[in-house]
Amino acid sequence: MMKIERIIQNKKQFLDLLLLADEQEDMIDKYLPQGDLFALYDGDLKSVCVVVPVDGETCELKNIATYPEYQGKGYGRALVGFIFDFYKNDYKSMLVGTGETPAILSFYERCGFVRFHRVKNFFTDHYDHPMFEGDIQLVDMIYLKKDLTVPRSRVSASAKFSRSAPGR
Ligand SMILES: CC(C)(COP(=O)(O)OP(=O)(O)OC[C@H]1O[C@@H](n2cnc3c(N)ncnc32)[C@H](O)[C@@H]1OP(=O)(O)O)[C@@H](O)C(=O)NCCC(=O)NCCS
Repeated sequence: MMKIERIIQNKKQFLDLLLLADEQEDMIDKYLPQGDLFALYDGDLKSVCVVVPVDGETCELKNIATYPEYQGKGYGRALVGFIFDFYKNDYKSMLVGTGETPAILSFYERCGFVRFHRVKNFFTDHYDHPMFEGDIQLVDMIYLKKDLTVPRSRVSASAKFSRSAPGR
């Protein structure tokens, strides 16, 4: 059975997965300590994600990754559905930023995010080497937003999961 856990200790044990989404470890170190880390297990570990607060109304999905052999099976979407529910009483909206990669943008849009903002030259200004996703060089950051106050039209994906996060 699938379950999603909030991970409090030893977050860097998931570094191999986190590096799939963000290949520069010192960038991960900037948000992992204060971020909420969630791990999805279906038998063994399949996916992780990290969410950080931005301000009193907004949080941000900073990293999400599924092991390559398990991608396309619904684990990423299930994890996103879980965190939408998890934060809906705490924040009005969730942001996510990504390079201009059609596959990743369509993943987020399939999950319910909508595009709203572009930061010019983010990847060329903030990373110490040129970043590529396949053949595409990442230059601008595209921000997408999900309104957490709007009930989702489909049955909550998280309903299938045990909510094992402590302190909530
Ligand atoms: C992006 C990622 C986390 C998606 O996780 P996943 O477990 O494969 O996603 P799911 O199987 O839940 O897919 C959810 C939806 O997104 C769509 N989607 C996922 N990957 C896609 C792709 N490469 N191209 C187009 N659509 C895609 C799926 O079709 C699915 O839509 P559907 O439910 O309507 O069929 C995963 O591909 C990954 O780990 N990539 C490498 C790390 C990364 O780049 N992370 C994002 C950093 S910005």
